[in-house]
Amino acid sequence: MEFHFSEENLSKLSGVFSKYPNKKAAVMPVLYIAQEQNGYISNEVISEVSKVCEITEEEVMGVVTFYTMYHQTKPGKYHIQVCTNVSCMLRDGFEIYDAVKEKLGISNHGVTGDGLFSLEEVECMGSCGTAPMIAVNEDFHENLTKELTLQILDNLKQV
Ligand code: FES
Repeated sequence: MEFHFSEENLSKLSGVFSKYPNKKAAVMPVLYIAQEQNGYISNEVISEVSKVCEITEEEVMGVVTFYTMYHQTKPGKYHIQVCTNVSCMLRDGFEIYDAVKEKLGISNHGVTGDGLFSLEEVECMGSCGTAPMIAVNEDFHENLTKELTLQILDNLKQV
């Protein structure tokens, strides 16, 4: 399906471009705006971002695949990112990851049948001092245990 920035987002892009020395340097915030509008980074989004940032689709793809903040498939309403990198791993990050997988009945990059949850195992999210942690969309939950994590998921189901 074709993707074009909305009028509102086109004016946001003007503001973004004014903060960078060239359009290429603004690719990350441009991708973020595109993802907010489209829900995820589709091939059509990559094509449009490459045009507005005046770079190749391969360059856009390199950014999209490097950062976990960009989704290449439509995530659930609540996108759960579980860190299993060193600090989190040493404090039961894998136990939390396994518990989330089991509770939701999905594996890495899966989405629950009702579209409520999606899951992603991620590398360090910069919150090592309060490991182990997960992110639910933009919100970090830190100093977790398996039990606290499952409680978070239960609470989200009731929202
Ligand atoms: S290792 Fe998990 S936040 Fe850094």
